[in-house]
Amino acid sequence: MMSIICNMSLAILIVIAFSCYNSILAAPAPSKQSEASALLYSGWWSPSVTDNTTLPHCAWPGVLCDASGSVEGIRLPYGYQIGGNFSNMNFSLLPSLTLLNFSYNGLAGKIPLQICTLSRLTYLDLSSNSLIGNGSIPPELGNLERLNTLNLTFNLLNGAVPPTIGRLHNLRSLIFRSNNLSGSIPLELGNLAKMNVVDLSFNNFIAPIPSSIRNLTSLTNLNLQRNQLGGSIPPEIWNFTSLTDLDLQENQLGGSIPPEIGKLRSLTDLYLQGNQLGGSIPPEIRNLTSLTSLHLQGNQLGGSIPPEIGNLTSLTSLHLQGNQLSGSIPPEIGNLTSLTSLFLQENQIGGSIPPEIGNLTSLTDLFLEGNQLGGSIPPEIGNLTSLTDLFLEGNQLGGSIPPEIGNLRSLTYLILEGNQLCGSIPPEIGNLRSLIGLYLEENQLGGSIPPEIGNLRSLTDLYLDGNQLGGSIPSEIGNLRSLTYLYLQENQIGGSIPLKIGNLTSLTDLFLEGNQLGGSIPPEIGNLRSLTYLYLQENQLGGSIPLKIGNLMNLTYLILEGNQLGGSIPPEIGNLRSLIGLYLEENQLGGSIPPEIWNLRSLTYLYLEGNQLDLNQFHETQDPRRRSSVIHFMMVFISLAAICCIVVGSGFLFRRATKTKQPETIEKNGNFLSIWNYDGRIAYEDIIDATEDFDLKYCIGIGGYGSVYRARLPNGKVVALKKLHHFEAEDPSFDKSFQNEVKHLTEVRHRSIIKLHGFCLHKRCMFLVYEYMENGSLFGVLRDDVEAVELDWSRRVDLVRDTTHALSYMHHDCAWPIIHRDISSNNILLNSKMQAFVSDFGTARLLDHDFSSNFITNIAGTYGYIAPELAYTLVVTEKCDVYSFGVVAMETMMGEHPGDIISILLTSSGEDIMLHKILDRRLPFPRENSVARSIVLIVSLALACLSANPKSRPTMKQVSEAFLARKSPLAKPFHEISLAQLRYVNRSRLEGEST
Ligand SMILES: *[C@@H]1O[C@H](CO)[C@@H](O)[C@H](O)[C@H]1NC(C)=O
Ligand SMILES: *[C@@H]1O[C@H](CO)[C@@H](O)[C@H](O)[C@H]1NC(C)=O
Repeated sequence: MMSIICNMSLAILIVIAFSCYNSILAAPAPSKQSEASALLYSGWWSPSVTDNTTLPHCAWPGVLCDASGSVEGIRLPYGYQIGGNFSNMNFSLLPSLTLLNFSYNGLAGKIPLQICTLSRLTYLDLSSNSLIGNGSIPPELGNLERLNTLNLTFNLLNGAVPPTIGRLHNLRSLIFRSNNLSGSIPLELGNLAKMNVVDLSFNNFIAPIPSSIRNLTSLTNLNLQRNQLGGSIPPEIWNFTSLTDLDLQENQLGGSIPPEIGKLRSLTDLYLQGNQLGGSIPPEIRNLTSLTSLHLQGNQLGGSIPPEIGNLTSLTSLHLQGNQLSGSIPPEIGNLTSLTSLFLQENQIGGSIPPEIGNLTSLTDLFLEGNQLGGSIPPEIGNLTSLTDLFLEGNQLGGSIPPEIGNLRSLTYLILEGNQLCGSIPPEIGNLRSLIGLYLEENQLGGSIPPEIGNLRSLTDLYLDGNQLGGSIPSEIGNLRSLTYLYLQENQIGGSIPLKIGNLTSLTDLFLEGNQLGGSIPPEIGNLRSLTYLYLQENQLGGSIPLKIGNLMNLTYLILEGNQLGGSIPPEIGNLRSLIGLYLEENQLGGSIPPEIWNLRSLTYLYLEGNQLDLNQFHETQDPRRRSSVIHFMMVFISLAAICCIVVGSGFLFRRATKTKQPETIEKNGNFLSIWNYDGRIAYEDIIDATEDFDLKYCIGIGGYGSVYRARLPNGKVVALKKLHHFEAEDPSFDKSFQNEVKHLTEVRHRSIIKLHGFCLHKRCMFLVYEYMENGSLFGVLRDDVEAVELDWSRRVDLVRDTTHALSYMHHDCAWPIIHRDISSNNILLNSKMQAFVSDFGTARLLDHDFSSNFITNIAGTYGYIAPELAYTLVVTEKCDVYSFGVVAMETMMGEHPGDIISILLTSSGEDIMLHKILDRRLPFPRENSVARSIVLIVSLALACLSANPKSRPTMKQVSEAFLARKSPLAKPFHEISLAQLRYVNRSRLEGEST
C-alpha cells in the first residue's frame, strides 16, 4: 500500500486520505498517512521539507508526535509567515492534536474560526502576531473546554472579551497582555477556578475588577497593569494565599491597602504604583517576607513608613516615592540588606537619615530628594560602596559633607543641592573617579574648591554655585576634559581665571558671575569652541576683552557687564555669528563700536551703557537702509541721551528696561504693493521681472495656500515669494483688514520666525514676500538621507528649542497673540546653517479673513498634525499649535512622522516603547550626556504636548521655559528609558509646576 501511495498523483492521495479518516472514527489509532497529508496540504511547510523523502512528517519543523507516531502538537518555528492561510489545513485529520503554538508566525486578520472547533486542544498560543478585528475574540473560543493555556498576547485584538470565556473550566493560564481589548473584565472569568496565571495587562479595560474574581483562589500571578481599572481593589484578592506576583500598576484604583494584605505570604512582587491609593501602609506588611519588589510610588499614601517594613529582608527594590508619606525613615530599614534601590523621594519625610542606612551595602540607587530631611548626612553612608546614584537634594540637611563620601567609588551622580550644608567640600571627593555629575549648589559651603576635584575625569556637570566658596579656582579644574557645565557663580571666589580653563574643550556653559575674580580674561578662553554661554559679569575683571573671544562660534550669550574691562571692543566680536545677547555695560570700555557688530544677525540684545565709548561713528552706521536690511532684529541701549534708545523693530517685550520705542517708518510703494521694513526699493515690477511673471521654473514648492517662488532681486538679495491661490481682493473692507493684518505680521520679529517683508495685493495676483531659506523644509531634510545626517542631534535639539521659543513668543509675548494653526515639518524651514525658522505664521488667520474669531472657517492644518479635538470642535486655541508642535518634535527625534506611536500613547494601551528604539537610526546613538538629556527632555515635553486633552497640554511658555531650566541628570541610563516613564515624569513635573 505504501509504495502505491508514493506513486500516485496528489488527487488520488487526497481521496485515500479521506477514506482513511473515515476508518479512524471506528478505529482509535489515527492513520499516519492521513496526518501526513493534512500537514502536506496545509501549505505551511516548504517543498524543501515536504519533498524530502528521508524526512518523516514527525521530523518536520515544529511537528510534535507522541510515542505512537501521532501528531499531538504543532509548534511552528519562529517566522513561519503563514499569514491567514488556514483554509487548506484539515484539522479533522489530526485527531490527537492537543497543542497549537503559532507565536511569531505572522497571523493576520481575525482569529481563524477553524481553531475554535478543535475541542481537544489543551494548549493554544497565538501570541506575537497581528491578529486584529472588531470584537476579535470569537465567542466560539469558549468551545475549547479542555484548554489549559490560552496565550493571545502581543496582538491587536480589540473589543470586549466574550462571556463564553467562562466555559474554559480547565484553564490555568490566560494571557491577553498587550492588545487593545476594552470593556470591563467579564464576570465569567470568575468561573475559572483552576486559574494560576491571569495576565490582562496593557489593554484598555475599564470599570472595577469584578468581585467574581474571588473564586480564583489558586492564582499565583495576577497582572492587570496599565489598564483603566477603577474602583478599589476587591478585598477577595487579599485571600489569594498562593499569589506570588500581583501587578495592578498604572490604573485608576482608589481605596486603601487593607491590613489583610498580610495574608499574601507567598508574594514576591507587589506593584501597585501609579494609582490613587490613599490611607497608609499597613504594618501587617511585615508578613510578606518573600517580597523582593515593593512598588507603591505615585499614589496618595500618607502616614509614616511602618518600622515593620524592616522584616522584609528579601526586598531588593523599595519604591515609595511620590506619595505623601511623613514621619521619619525607620531605622529598621537598615535590615533590608538585599536592597539595591531605595526610592523615597518626593514625600514629606522628616527626621534625619538613620545611620543604619549604612548597612544597605548592596544599594546602587538611593533617592531621598524632595523631602524635609534634616540633621546631617550620616558618615555611615560611606559604607554604601555599590552606590551609583545618591540624590539628596531639596531637603534641609545641615552639617558638613562627611569625608566618608569619598568611599563611594562607583558613584556617578552625587546630588546634594538645595540643602543647608556647610563646612568645606571634603578633598576625598576627588576619589569619586566614576562621577559624572556633582551638584552641590545652593548650600552654604565655604572654604575653597579642593584641587582634588581635578581627579574627576568623567565629570561632565559641576555645579557649585550659590555657596560661600572662597579661595581661587584651582588650576586642576583644567583636567576635567569631559566637563560640559561649569557653574561656579554667586560665590566669593577670588584670584584670576586659571589659564588651564582653556583645556575644557567640551564646555558649553561657563558661569562664573557674581564672584570676586580679578586679573584679566585669559585668551585661552578662545579654545572653548563648544561654549554657548559665557557669564563673567559682576566680578572685578580688568584688562581688555581678548581678541580670541572671536573664536567662540557657538556662543549665544556673552555677558561681561559690571567688571573693569578697558580697551576697546575687539572687531573679532563680529565673528560670533550665533550671538543673541552681548552685555558689555558698566565697564571702562573706550574707542568706537566696531562696525563688525552689524554682522551679528542673531543679535537681539546689545547693552553698552556705562562705558566711555565714542558714539560718533555709531551714528554714521545708522544709515537707515543698512540698518533695516542688515540688522535683523535688535535692541540697542546706550546711555547717551541723544540716542538713548534705538529700537529697530517693535512689538517685542522689553527685557530689562522699558524705553520709548520708535517704530520704523513704513514705506509703501504704489497702491497695490506694500512692502514694509525692507529697503523700500522693491517694486512690483522687480518681482515680476525676477520671476519672469511667476514662471514655473522659479517655483520651489507648492503648499496648501499657494506656490512658493525663489526670486533674486536686482540688488542681489534672494527672497521667497508665496503666491496665494485665490483671493477676494474685490471687497474693499477685506482689503483694509487684510492690510492691517499683514502689517501686524511684518512687525513680528523673532530670530526663529521667518521674516515677512511685505506683500502685494493686486487684482491679478497676490503674494507675500519672505526671507529665503536655503535648506528648504524640515520635512524635506528628514526625507533626504544625506541631509538628515547633516541635521545631527545637537542641531535637532537646537531646532526644537528654537521652534519652541518662536511659538512661545507668538502665543505669549506679542501684544497681539497669534495662533499658527498649521505647524508641521513643512512649515519649519532651515537656513544654510540648518537653523530652524517657523514659517507661515498668521497665514491661516490671514486667509480666514475673520480676524476677530478663533473659529475655523477654512479647515487649516496638515493631516497628521491636527489636534484631535478639532474633530469635534471648531474652536482653535493655542493648544492646537501645542499639539502640532508635539508631533513635529517627535518627528525631529524619530526622523519620520511618529504615526501610530501617537495613538498608542493617546490610548495608554500597548506595550511600553523604549526611547532609544524610536530615535532616528541614521544618526549615531546619542552618547554625549548633554545631548542625551536634551533628547529626553524633548521627548518628554513632546509627549505632554500630545495629550488628547488640550487642558493637559503645557503652554508653549512652559515648554520654552523647560528648555531654559537646567537639565537634571538622567535618573537611569539612556537605553533603559521608556516612553511610559517619560510620560510619568512629565505628569509629575507639570503638576508640580501648577501647584
Ligand atoms: C533531507 O533531510 C535529511 C535529514 O534531515 C537531511 O540530512 C538532508 O540534507 C535533506 N535533504 C535535502 C535535499 O534537503
Ligand atoms: C505567551 O506568549 C508570549 C509571547 O509570545 C511569551 O513570551 C510567553 O512566554 C507566553 N506565555 C505563556 C504562559 O505561554
